[in-house]
Amino acid sequence: MMSIKPKIQILASGGTIAGLADSKLDFLGYTAGAARVEEVLAALPEINDLADLQVENFCQVASENANPALWLGLTKRANEILSADNVDALVITAGTDTMEELAYFLNLLLKTSKPVVLTGAMRPLSAYGTDGPVNLYNAVAVAATPESQRRGVLLVMNDTILSARQATKQDSFRLHSFGSGEFGPLGYVVAGQVRFVAWPGQQHTLDTELYLTDIDNLPPVEIFYMAAGVDARLLTAMADLGAAGVVLAGFGNGTFSDAVKEQLQKLLERGIICAVASRTQSGFTVSHLPGLLPSADLSPQKARILLMLALACGKKNIDIERYFRLY
Ligand code: SIN
Repeated sequence: MMSIKPKIQILASGGTIAGLADSKLDFLGYTAGAARVEEVLAALPEINDLADLQVENFCQVASENANPALWLGLTKRANEILSADNVDALVITAGTDTMEELAYFLNLLLKTSKPVVLTGAMRPLSAYGTDGPVNLYNAVAVAATPESQRRGVLLVMNDTILSARQATKQDSFRLHSFGSGEFGPLGYVVAGQVRFVAWPGQQHTLDTELYLTDIDNLPPVEIFYMAAGVDARLLTAMADLGAAGVVLAGFGNGTFSDAVKEQLQKLLERGIICAVASRTQSGFTVSHLPGLLPSADLSPQKARILLMLALACGKKNIDIERYFRLY
């Protein structure tokens, strides 16, 4: 009897998984996004046993050049693909440098229970020991698993399944680059064998109050990184340059200098929405200034995504504060 394979679409957006260089020993200076995803698949005939695949090259960028407008376009395309009855799951290939932000962006906006899995590579396709093909194989295996439904957007790298909310790039070049700190992985995948061990703790996808249809454009939201003696006037420069929101990457549990406090107060008086995260990479933040929104345990870069999308959807402080706790 013929087994029915799931129908999975791969949406490629560039990155090291599609990176090429002249030398097989070029692990660092290659061109990201140079290859089309078909070239990655050519190294992987076994992947066709897992699913009936369709592929689309959405763009071929190095993800350091990604921006919110590109993420929005990619999210709209993902939404169209997922709405089709003949698609069971979506795999997105992307550059790892900003993959965690793209993953969280999708996690907040996509209204689907179908599996959505992001993957990439730390070594380019042309290098010895490239991790791209096996990461793509594992991502398709995770997407093909019914257990992946309703877990929010997933990120698969180096045999590990992570939640889009917690996943972060923790190493600049090694294969075990991604982790999720004290939250741990959602599961593992080895040569296509999938084992889940956890559910994401926060609301996502179908459960968020953020909708693509409410977004015309994305307001600029900047990150201000605390360091001892940092020039607080740069906060005012951000506002003068048009920031609608600012995320402070504070010390410790969200603290900042008196000089920064003074500038933050001025921003709040100007109606700029300010949130505080921590530069510590673990633990949660509290607000040390009335009107400053604590972003729970989100990293500054993910707090920026949530604040940007909430502002784009016309949300007010009272809702945004709740979203920081729930999403
Ligand atoms: C990129 O983010 O596009 C380059 C780095 C990578 O994919 O690992």
